[in-house]
Order: sequence, then C-alpha cells, then structure tokens
Amino acid sequence: MNTINLMFHTRSPEETQRLGERLGEILQAPAVVALVGELGVGKTCFIQGVARGLGVKGYVPSPTFTLIREHHGRVPVYHVDLYRLEKPQELEDLGLEEILEGEGVVLIEWAEKVRFLLPPEHLQVELRFGQGDEEREILIVPHGERYRQLLRGFSQGPHARASL
Ligand SMILES: Nc1ncnc2c1ncn2[C@@H]1O[C@H](COP(=O)(O)OP(=O)(O)O)[C@@H](O)[C@H]1O
Ligand SMILES: [Mg+2]
Repeated sequence: MNTINLMFHTRSPEETQRLGERLGEILQAPAVVALVGELGVGKTCFIQGVARGLGVKGYVPSPTFTLIREHHGRVPVYHVDLYRLEKPQELEDLGLEEILEGEGVVLIEWAEKVRFLLPPEHLQVELRFGQGDEEREILIVPHGERYRQLLRGFSQGPHARASL
C-alpha cells in the first residue's frame, strides 16, 4: 500500500516539542491526533508543541484531573488525557464524541483506550523510549488519504527519516 509513515528521533524535550510544533503549523481543522506510548515518554511534551504550532499562547498544562481541556489557537484545540480513565462508562459525561465530530483539533493521550471512538481518518503518533535517557522514537502514522496528503507536506528535519 502506498503509505507514508514518518519516523523521527529526538534527543531532548525541546526537540520533541519542536517536532510537535511543526506538525501543529500544518494541521488543518478538523483533525484528530491519537497519541500512544508509555507514561513519561513525551506525549504531553509533544502536544504542547502541537498546540503552540496551532497558535495557542502560553504553556499547555497536562489536564491531569480534567480529562479534557479546551485551548484557543487559530482553531479550538482540545487536549484530552485519558490516563485516569478506568472504564468506558466514564466517557459518557465527557462529551468526547461531540468534540470528535466538531470543528477543532483534538489531541488525545492514551488514545488506545478510546480506539472504538476514533474516526477512521486520524493521525496516530506513537512514542517510544530510545537508547539514552533523552532519546525518543516518534512514529507518525496517517490513517486516511487526507492525513497521508498532510504528511507528504511535512518536511523532515535533521533527525528524521521516512520509513515505508
Ligand atoms: N526527547 C524527549 N522528548 C520528550 N520528553 C523527554 C525527552 N527527553 C526527556 N524527556 C522528559 O520526559 C518527560 C516526558 O513527560 P510527558 O511529556 O509528561 O510524558 P507523557 O505525557 O507521555 O506521560 C518529561 O519529563 C521530559 O522532560
Ligand atoms: Mg501526559
């Protein structure tokens, strides 16, 4: 299949944020970005960069207790952190489904917990720990033609390489 996954290696939190920022700069709303990876791997760090690239001013704190937080950039930006979600029933009052069908950009940590809710077209970002303390591998996988197109326009930095 003619797919483009992009693999990046970052060596500091700043590099991860910068990568997220570059993605945020080219994202077109509505969009869904599903982040997957262990605790402490850098999902929130990446999202902070994406939010900045989308024009959100200032720091984007991790919404530890509020599972969904709305920010205002050039479009509405929703930071969803499902770390504390224990059972799918807890989703009922959250309004996540409405947000996923809305006009904003939705950035979801622990997206694997709500895979059944994700639209078929979305961008998946998988983060893994690398060799050194501050090394991370970040794989960006487009689902759907719109996101494949988007990634074609995503220029690659010095630590990036495309993989098939
Ligand atoms: N290359 C890197 N990219 C992202 N975070 C990194 C990197 N190297 C070290 N870190 C550290 O790892 C932690 C990542 O935390 P966070 O983004 O909250 O992770 P998560 O949201 O996945 O649980 C931060 O303390 C950050 O400083
Ligand atoms: Mg986090």
